[in-house]
Amino acid sequence: MLSAKVPLEELNDDRMVVPTYAKRGLSQAVPRYEIPEDAMPADVAYQLIHDELNLDGNPTLNLATFVTTWMDDEADRLMAETMTKNAIDWDEYPQSVELQDRCVNMLARLYGAPEHHRSVGCATVGSSEAIHLGGLAMKWRWRKAREAAGKDATKPNLVMGANVQVCWEKFARYFDVEPRYVPLSDERFVIGVDEAMALVDEHTIGVVGILGSTYTGEYEPIAALSAALDRLERDLGLDVPIHVDAASGGFVAPFLAPELEWDFRLPRVRSINVSGHKYGLVYPGVGWVLWQDAADLPEELIFEVDYLGGSHANFSLNFSRGASQIVAQYYNLLRLGKSGYKAVMEALSDTARWIASELARRDDIKLVAAGTDLPVVCLALVGSPGFSAFDLSAILRQRGWIVPAYKMAPDAENVEVLRIVVREGLSRDLASELVYDIGAAIDHLAGGRSVEQPASPAASPAPGHRVGTSRVTRAKASPKTRAVC
Ligand SMILES: Cc1ncc(COP(=O)(O)O)c(C=O)c1O
Repeated sequence: MLSAKVPLEELNDDRMVVPTYAKRGLSQAVPRYEIPEDAMPADVAYQLIHDELNLDGNPTLNLATFVTTWMDDEADRLMAETMTKNAIDWDEYPQSVELQDRCVNMLARLYGAPEHHRSVGCATVGSSEAIHLGGLAMKWRWRKAREAAGKDATKPNLVMGANVQVCWEKFARYFDVEPRYVPLSDERFVIGVDEAMALVDEHTIGVVGILGSTYTGEYEPIAALSAALDRLERDLGLDVPIHVDAASGGFVAPFLAPELEWDFRLPRVRSINVSGHKYGLVYPGVGWVLWQDAADLPEELIFEVDYLGGSHANFSLNFSRGASQIVAQYYNLLRLGKSGYKAVMEALSDTARWIASELARRDDIKLVAAGTDLPVVCLALVGSPGFSAFDLSAILRQRGWIVPAYKMAPDAENVEVLRIVVREGLSRDLASELVYDIGAAIDHLAGGRSVEQPASPAASPAPGHRVGTSRVTRAKASPKTRAVC
């Protein structure tokens, strides 16, 4: 979220935060955008902030996010104990680094890395950082190979579905790679294999396959992409790698669909990212990127950093970061094991499928995704009922449910959907309340009763771009709301 400095003269009455109570002893107003001149007691500051945050949505009812909102008490405790550790201080906190090493090893094996390959990987802040690192490795590998062959190594491009999350668009822009988007259609909301192959040429650094589209939760046909690229190599001699964006699916598919080949079992899949803070079941702040083999990560990108008493290999966009999310990821892997993750994912999937089957009983709802891949339900309204998915989302918000409405990516923008992400915390009881409330909201709208309209679809809270949640961003909101998170 980009924040802007607001001219004080524009603030008028908004210049001060004026708590009505906070603490009986708090008698003065507190400046909103300036550092107060004087200190205040810790308990007063706590109460002020605590109260103000009540305006946030309820995380349990936030069905917009893929990000974990509940962990075991023991995980909370471990995270609190390690909050003070900086994961970059390798010499000072060698055991935290050891836990990262263990996680990378466990994930590489979970993703079918052959034992004779020296897979490498690292923790990141989330899938976005992981994707930037994965994208950079593809770009550098492509450039080196082109230069070694004495060929033009400018104008790299990356082929991906128009349904990619915004971080891919960011990667392309920040690192000067031409994004080549495979358009969607009203019938297909993921990448098309033939359509993708038509965009690949000798300047293509890689093809992205998404294991769990942000828009619908569907898995993209990664094995088919791989087979098509094999044929392309045979016919044209182009060796184009696949990066799998398994931000959400990386902790779902291995447990619910172990026979599905999307990972390092396919030799063409050279790198994978996954968000530990999504179905890895850790609070926000951890992702992972893995390369099938050390050779997939050009050594020029790795920095040997001398820092605080030791020299260590580093590949990241940032430097300091908290160790607690890495520790929490290790906790979950240890605590749940494979059978524990499987049980959680089965429960989530059952709930998602149950919600889908209940909603499917209504003839005014069309299911776009029914929890078959990720535990995500995506629904559209049938025909032209005289109200939109955005109206429905707004009514549900009045009940506390955060169920985002958005338009599909190009060229399927005329399809408007609502998406329900099932995570731990959405019990079957709550799910049946949700189904009831969706039905009641549709009946209410169909009865012609009005609902406060969002300003426009682009300004309504497309997940991943919570436009207009703060005073500053309300004023300066970017009109561009692309992918969802
Ligand atoms: C498919 C996909 N890729 C990447 C991301 C970005 O992930 P993160 O929020 O971990 O940076 C998301 C977020 O929802 C996603 O769904």
